[in-house]
Amino acid sequence: MIADQLPRDLAAAVEGEHTRLGEFRRLHYFHEVGSTNDIALSLAAAGAVEGTSVLADRQHAGRGRLGRTWFSPPGAGMYLSAIVRPGSVEWLALTTLAAGVAVARAVTTVSALPIGLKWPNDLVIGRPWRKVGGVLCESAGSGAEIEALVVGIGVNLEPTATPPELANVATSIEAELGRPIERSRLVVEVLAELNGILARLRAGDRAWVCDEWRRFGRAGLHGARVRWDDQGMERFGFARGLDDSGALLVESAGRIERLIAGEVRWDRLSVSSEL
Ligand code: BTN
Repeated sequence: MIADQLPRDLAAAVEGEHTRLGEFRRLHYFHEVGSTNDIALSLAAAGAVEGTSVLADRQHAGRGRLGRTWFSPPGAGMYLSAIVRPGSVEWLALTTLAAGVAVARAVTTVSALPIGLKWPNDLVIGRPWRKVGGVLCESAGSGAEIEALVVGIGVNLEPTATPPELANVATSIEAELGRPIERSRLVVEVLAELNGILARLRAGDRAWVCDEWRRFGRAGLHGARVRWDDQGMERFGFARGLDDSGALLVESAGRIERLIAGEVRWDRLSVSSEL
């Protein structure tokens, strides 16, 4: 698939942040795709370097986590996927959290909205929370070596990015801020943050990544009531923080357990009453 030309404002924004972007300046733009994650996965399979990224104006088969659809109408959201080459599987959980931190920091810089993270990397806002964005990480390769991880990021920019049936659990940056933000600024800020955060991880600074995550995840980490699926059985417990490998700590029946993957549901009422 041949990329379209970068819109002029985006080309200028990339040029202006060349140094901060590093390899993440390799941005491919498409008017319309099925899913930017698919394009990035095939670029990764063809040997594209870490930092190669794909942005689309619209997706007709956008994917969310756990087999959900990601509603992606034209121009209403940021649909971005970036190739990361984490090396071994031990970096997967941290890289996934790092992606959430990158987006949360970028949205904060561009909008100054009080963004939060819901484990592992949903972007949320308000009380009770409403979702403004999410991250879907998909890997290429198998076994202990991960050849490439595609970090797919969706952020609702305009109210039309929120499907009507999700109106009370989802929102958009524009609806929260009362004015639109420039997509090109957000894209470049997310990519620059990813570049910086991955460099920190590589340098061994996983504590910084986890501390940043804790800063954004504050509301849901201390005492919030959570539910999760344990091999088909619904379990209940209380969030007790994040450990330094990126696992969510939950207390259930007097024992602390580590959740490393999957879906955790927050009891929205218990969370909002703790804020
Ligand atoms: C979630 O379920 O919260 C994750 C949503 C991820 C959506 C993004 S949009 C860009 C990329 N391409 C996709 O098909 N999905 C991700």
